[in-house]
Amino acid sequence: MRAIVTGSNGFIGFNLCQKLHREKWEVIGIDDLSSGRRENVIDGFRYEFMKIQEKERMEKLIREFEPDAIFHLAAVPRVSYSVENPFVTAEANVMGTLSILEGVVKAGLVEKTRIVNTSSSSVYGGAEQMPTPESHPCDPKSPYALEKYQAEEWGRLFANLYGLDIVSLRYFNVFGPHAIFGGAYSTVLTAWLYHIYVDPTYEAFLEDDGTQSRDFCFVDNVVQANVLAATRDRGFSGEAFNVAQGDNTTLLECKDMIEELSGRPLHLAQRPPRVGDVRHTLADISAARRELNYNPTTNFLEQLKVMADWYANHYPKA
Ligand SMILES: NC(=O)c1ccc[n+]([C@@H]2O[C@H](COP(=O)([O-])OP(=O)(O)OC[C@H]3O[C@@H](n4cnc5c(N)ncnc54)[C@H](O)[C@@H]3O)[C@@H](O)[C@H]2O)c1
Repeated sequence: MRAIVTGSNGFIGFNLCQKLHREKWEVIGIDDLSSGRRENVIDGFRYEFMKIQEKERMEKLIREFEPDAIFHLAAVPRVSYSVENPFVTAEANVMGTLSILEGVVKAGLVEKTRIVNTSSSSVYGGAEQMPTPESHPCDPKSPYALEKYQAEEWGRLFANLYGLDIVSLRYFNVFGPHAIFGGAYSTVLTAWLYHIYVDPTYEAFLEDDGTQSRDFCFVDNVVQANVLAATRDRGFSGEAFNVAQGDNTTLLECKDMIEELSGRPLHLAQRPPRVGDVRHTLADISAARRELNYNPTTNFLEQLKVMADWYANHYPKA
């Protein structure tokens, strides 16, 4: 099987590439290294360090390589940056996606190439209904969330117009090895593990009282969903699926587990809640289970241990 992975050098893209390598896929990774790491490469894979919105180059690559799947993970995934620079983020997140969709159509590969597009739970904009199903109304609250939603919509339109085979995966908070503290999606997990294992002078903190909870999704589960979506023997026409664990954990529980795993106390400075922060996230993953055969592992402590080991032993030196 042949695949293009955009965002191949980022946190999730690199985890996906490792899996594709183990499964003997032939891969071209595409990344502009804006937040991805040059070291996140795999021997035997080809890399093109470019912007996904370089439309002619993208089309040429797709035409020549004739991939079975395009895993589209490249994005500028920073919410606050998108608020300040919506033009820049829309260029990557919307026009970049369009460049891939158009590339497949113009290369005449709609019958062959399936696109697995990466979306985000942020499209719901703070859902009321828990667990949140895909049918919940979308209400993007930032340029980033809107761009992710628009990318999904472009996918649906291209499926209708040209028969493009495309599916979108709405990831919830992803964690695991190669998630860098300070990266786009820095969660409490990256910040607290960084404080414990990498730099104790960094002051870790807790916003609010810690009873807020997140549907944290281990990166291996996200990788699993991607491979299943790419290889399922049915086609897609722009459907979106939640990719999460279908289970949530409070921040105080996370703190306890990190203390248990590290054997060290985690001292947290107290901060007030951030305006607009949602209290809880929890995904309904029954559609992904049904339609993709998605079956996530859910032992949060075991998963956190894998991430903590990576922070303890493999975190890149500054
Ligand atoms: N990490 C999460 O919790 C989470 C949650 C929801 C959705 N997502 C989505 O998952 C995808 C991967 O995110 P991640 O957490 O691995 O972030 P990341 O920043 O580690 O990876 C994004 C990669 O895309 C590359 N990139 C950015 N703009 C590009 C462009 N214009 N052209 C080519 N490459 C470009 C970056 O260099 C980076 O390697 C993104 O689409 C993100 O929106 C992530």
